[in-house]
Amino acid sequence: MCGIVGILGRGPVADQIVDSLKRLEYRGYDSAGVATLEGAHIDRRRAEGKLKNLEAKLGKSPLAGHIGIGHTRWATHGKPTEANAHPHAAEGVAVVHNGIIENFRELRIELEKGGAKFVSETDTEIVAHLVSSYLQKGASPIDAVKQSLPRLKGAFALAFLFKDHDNLMIGARKGSPLAVGYGDGEMYLGSDAIALAPFTDDISYLEDGDWVVLTRKGCEIHDESGNIVKRDVLKSGASAFMVDKANYRHFMAKEIHEQPEVVGHTLARYVDMASERVALPMKLPFDFKDVQRISITACGTASYAGFIAKYWFERFARVPVEIDVASEFRYREAPVRKGDLAIFISQSGETADTLAALRYAKQQGMHTLAVVNVTTSTIARESETVMPTLAGPEIGVASTKAFTCQLMALATLALAAGKARGELSDADEAKLVQALVKVPRLMADALTHEAAIEKLARDIAKSKDVLYLGRGTSYPLALEGALKLKEISYIHAEGYAAGELKHGPIALIDETIPVVVIAPYDRVFDKTVSNMQEVAARGGNIILMTDAKGAEEATVDSMVTIVMPDMDSAFTPLVYAIPVQLLAYHTAVVMGTDVDQPRNLAKSVTVE
Ligand code: G6P
Repeated sequence: MCGIVGILGRGPVADQIVDSLKRLEYRGYDSAGVATLEGAHIDRRRAEGKLKNLEAKLGKSPLAGHIGIGHTRWATHGKPTEANAHPHAAEGVAVVHNGIIENFRELRIELEKGGAKFVSETDTEIVAHLVSSYLQKGASPIDAVKQSLPRLKGAFALAFLFKDHDNLMIGARKGSPLAVGYGDGEMYLGSDAIALAPFTDDISYLEDGDWVVLTRKGCEIHDESGNIVKRDVLKSGASAFMVDKANYRHFMAKEIHEQPEVVGHTLARYVDMASERVALPMKLPFDFKDVQRISITACGTASYAGFIAKYWFERFARVPVEIDVASEFRYREAPVRKGDLAIFISQSGETADTLAALRYAKQQGMHTLAVVNVTTSTIARESETVMPTLAGPEIGVASTKAFTCQLMALATLALAAGKARGELSDADEAKLVQALVKVPRLMADALTHEAAIEKLARDIAKSKDVLYLGRGTSYPLALEGALKLKEISYIHAEGYAAGELKHGPIALIDETIPVVVIAPYDRVFDKTVSNMQEVAARGGNIILMTDAKGAEEATVDSMVTIVMPDMDSAFTPLVYAIPVQLLAYHTAVVMGTDVDQPRNLAKSVTVE
């Protein structure tokens, strides 16, 4: 995952930037670069591959500037070549970037018309040219950035360096993290506290939409509307341990907020954003055309990711999918067909039941593919094909970011299957990839509902039972919502297919039971709303998670509505997972439980 560093120093900064980038190596990357101000000019050194290649270049032709930005790049738009490596530059400005600029195509056309010459395939270079176009019209660096930011659509973090300005750096955060570090006559920017640990313990985390103007004396932080704001200065302590909570109270909260970034990275691994095609980096040892049935096996939250993926594989690739929890699959002697595909999903890659199921499938001659977060794990090693999720270390026992990264990886695999089986045309593929590219930004939008959800959690915390309902892909998400709530708040919860309500759970409904209804405005929306009316008629308290259209159509009394952004109905679970997770999290906080390590649960379950 891309890492950003910026230093306004008192002496040459290039070596310090490289040291800091080394601390971001854990995020993964495939090229790197540094830019500093040499006199009045911006000069850059960039290299493919690991930081030692960049160090070798700097050894041969050093950079002497006292202000600079650096970057480790995890390729999204375009290959990991030197030309695509950051920093990117245009007249008067250089920039490093983490995340996705969704509207890069439109902006590129516009800027090319204005005479901009592009030398890379990246979305980042658009940002450099956009800011440069305002500079050329006479705007100051601050005004140029201020005018550029609202024109960029996506989830991202940026750091800018300007020609002729030895005491100015600008950073911006929208969806991807960025922190300011305070030194003694020096100032810093970094993707996280770990990057800044060699220089300072005093850190402010920017909030979403913030942008910051830094000089050696200090910084001025602006919110999205341009107001000057104060953000707390915290003692990071990141030098002591590699994985920290940033300024969150729990790892789970941090991991929920990391999702726009890590889901974006997972997406970037499996699609080529420039051509809007699925581009799996691994060669599959089977042809999806020959697969008659897919079997998906996992435990816990990972099994619900698999359940959602079942809908995607069946819809996009018209291939039947069986979904099993691993503890059942391994013993039920499922008849499977040699040469068919078995998919295993696991954050840890060590879950004993999932591993046993994988071994069974291999014995039966199935092709095996593992969607795992820990790529050195046993499941990753023993599977024929591995699809890593790029969630980064997940510390909270209750899985959040690993879940949405699993969904993202599986969505791209389902599209690849649909394409290979001739069920999706090039145009379908491009449309669906475009919809996936929007997901990180929409997740960042969904996170803005946190305060409202926190309030709601105070009521949920008073309940003894909670019901979650959904149809289609929202049904497995309802199961995940109920699991999340019971895992960490210890409140009993059940997830149901909304249509099944009348076959049992409706007997439970009275005014003491909150019912969470997950219902984006899709083709089954009306049906879910009818089920919701059945709940309302019996006095149940409804919490409806829907979009603007859904909120307009569904009006019943005793209802609280959480309005999610409009999006392609195919991929709603990726975005609706956010309010579901936040509701469980804040309820657990109210209950005062050990959120990150709930009683009786383990992160990696290596026993039966
Ligand atoms: C445990 C964890 C869950 C997780 C499940 C599967 O029960 O508490 O959060 O979903 O194991 O773990 P895996 O590592 O295989 O995804």
